[in-house]
Amino acid sequence: MAKLVRGFRDIFEPQSQHFTELENCARGVFSLYGFGELRLPTVELKELFVKSTGETTDIVQKEMYAFEDAGHRQLAIRPEGTPGVVRAYLENNFVQAAPVQKFYYIGNMFRAERPQAGRYREFEQIGAEYIGNSAPAADAEVILMLKDIVSRFGAKNYCVKINSLGCDKCRPLYRQALIDFLSQEKDTLCENCQTRLEKNPLRVLDCKIDGARFAGRVPTMQLCPECQAHFDEVQALLKGKIDFVVDPMLVRGLDYYSRTVFEFQAGDASQNAIAAGGRYDTLVKNMGGPATPAIGWAMGAERVIAARGEVTRPQQKSVCVVSLDKQCNETAFNIMQSLRGAGIRTEGGLFDKNIKGQMKQADRCHAAYAVILGTDELAQRQATFKDLATGEQKKISFDVLTQEVKKVL
Ligand code: HAM
Repeated sequence: MAKLVRGFRDIFEPQSQHFTELENCARGVFSLYGFGELRLPTVELKELFVKSTGETTDIVQKEMYAFEDAGHRQLAIRPEGTPGVVRAYLENNFVQAAPVQKFYYIGNMFRAERPQAGRYREFEQIGAEYIGNSAPAADAEVILMLKDIVSRFGAKNYCVKINSLGCDKCRPLYRQALIDFLSQEKDTLCENCQTRLEKNPLRVLDCKIDGARFAGRVPTMQLCPECQAHFDEVQALLKGKIDFVVDPMLVRGLDYYSRTVFEFQAGDASQNAIAAGGRYDTLVKNMGGPATPAIGWAMGAERVIAARGEVTRPQQKSVCVVSLDKQCNETAFNIMQSLRGAGIRTEGGLFDKNIKGQMKQADRCHAAYAVILGTDELAQRQATFKDLATGEQKKISFDVLTQEVKKVL
């Protein structure tokens, strides 16, 4: 039998409904903030992610679905959306025409991570990228927009952590201080962190094995006056509008960040980031454009849905149309279509089955009523309308059937 690939999923109702609800909720909020949808391709040149997501990141080193196509191009199935957005921004010359852009995207991302709860190889991200605004107001705006989506959707018990990673001026000093500090403990670091130490020492701080034991012990970041002023203003703008904590250990696992970074976390599992993002003021330039500030985030739809937990939603009442005789099938089918045309949720059509089989279907699809058609009904041009909860039934003329059904639903 055909088999699903490990780490991938089929998502049926009602689970799929959660995704639609989250997407609709996000679209509503994006529109309030003036963000427009950008539909990105799933495949990009591999080099795009190597250069932007970063050569030393786990995503690029271990998790990318990369392949060579028939034209010998090195391609990758996108592990994240930000590099594609920046590529599209540059390639379509927004730099000249309209450098300030607010994009959002909704789409599946792919990372060959070890599958576990909350971590999938194909998952949905809803993301936003605000390009061209260096002001702290942009940082506050995207963070509050994220909060609006997550809280309107109904995710509960999440906390918001923010930090500043400084800029090209202040980060190298911190980087060196961190290398000096961590080098003294090199032998005790996990294998991964021993390699990270020289190339990307900040990543040691959010290592699942080593990170926690350095909390409160590592040298803290000394921001340059500009970065400090920026971070102070971001916090001032957020104060009173969202609960947040400043976490000096929050460093993020992608290479392009500078200044403000943030995570929305829920639960205490290791895969607890429901959404995350930050500034990437040097990425546009590194990708060949002019110096252009930018900030954004992406939420993991599966994780935001899990953070909302169980929801009970009222079931939309439906009608099931049952035909008792071959002669009635066409009329029964036409009734189904006119009910649907009037906006009534209608099941039925299993006309090859006997009445027992058709009533079973009505039960399975939780229909509230059945419209039953036999040869008598056909001759009298009246359908039997049955309340499936009480068993009560009455005859309704074909001419007014749709209006009458509408009245009770
Ligand atoms: P990221 O932290 O790699 O950032 O991913 C963002 C979110 O996607 C995570 O917080 C998590 O909720 C979800 N996520 C990541 N990997 C998985 C997985 N394997 N299974 C389920 N959910 C997952 C980015 O992708 C950046 N592009 C965010 C950004 C946008 N920064 C600036 N702009």
